[in-house]
Amino acid sequence: MELSELAERVVRLAERVAAIETQQTAAQQTAAQKTAAPLSDTPPWQMDEVRLQELMDELHTGVKRDPTAALRFDAPSTGCYLSAHARNVSRVAMLIARKHGFSDASVRAVGLCGLLHDAGMESLPHGLLEAGRPLTPDEFRQVRLHPVNGADLVRERYRFGGLLDSVIPLTIEQHHERADGSGYPHGLPAARIHDFARVLSVADSFEAMTTPRPFRAARHPAQAMRSLLLQGCKTARGGMYDRDVLKTFVWAASLYPLGCEVELSDGRRARVTEATDDPKRPVVKTSGRDGETIDLTRTASLTVKE
Ligand SMILES: [Fe+2]
Repeated sequence: MELSELAERVVRLAERVAAIETQQTAAQQTAAQKTAAPLSDTPPWQMDEVRLQELMDELHTGVKRDPTAALRFDAPSTGCYLSAHARNVSRVAMLIARKHGFSDASVRAVGLCGLLHDAGMESLPHGLLEAGRPLTPDEFRQVRLHPVNGADLVRERYRFGGLLDSVIPLTIEQHHERADGSGYPHGLPAARIHDFARVLSVADSFEAMTTPRPFRAARHPAQAMRSLLLQGCKTARGGMYDRDVLKTFVWAASLYPLGCEVELSDGRRARVTEATDDPKRPVVKTSGRDGETIDLTRTASLTVKE
């Protein structure tokens, strides 16, 4: 399937994600708050290694237990958005990495990269990110140094063991590199960008687009998905993002993407024709000339076979 076609389909998928977010029940919201309560708003890179690993365990377990929850983002705190951003990016990056076939250890490592990717923002002048005004050229230059500064900080502050001691700082340094060479700080070509950074850049960009910042409003998830997919395939120098990672993200953002074939609990084969508010219960059309259209949200006895 071409990415341009995916871009159209994903609008509806992302709208469903938005609908799920807004239609969370009070009980779900309470549960989410309970989950969020133990999480300090301390930026992860200011945590000691024990606390960082505890937070990582919590997020990793949560994504494995309920992958769709990875797209229900923590709201930014009133002070700085970086802590919530780090947790959200970590969860989305793990969601993509799992669906992309990474090992469990690699998924967790990608999650750590997500938690720590903006550590270099710590060296920026206080309040710069919350200024709510365009940056001066010098400030902009300082911001563009944060991948390198973050990699240095993480290298000095943590010991993960084995290859992770080099791979995690490398991924942090590369999280703003782009597959078409348009990224920073080095403008690397795709072949030199680590797999973890390819995943992280998609997760980071999607989260950044769909959550508010002091200087702009959040974009609708559907617009953000479309933007990512278009940027992934239509720039003059090729795509900014890894096409396979983007495809995985579209797949991961929905349990049963439109058009995919599924098996129903009564054994019939069917094709997904419409999204609903319940990611596990789409509208499907059964196979055959006289295929039946079934809204699985209205048929409690019938489900998609896992
Ligand atoms: Fe960044």
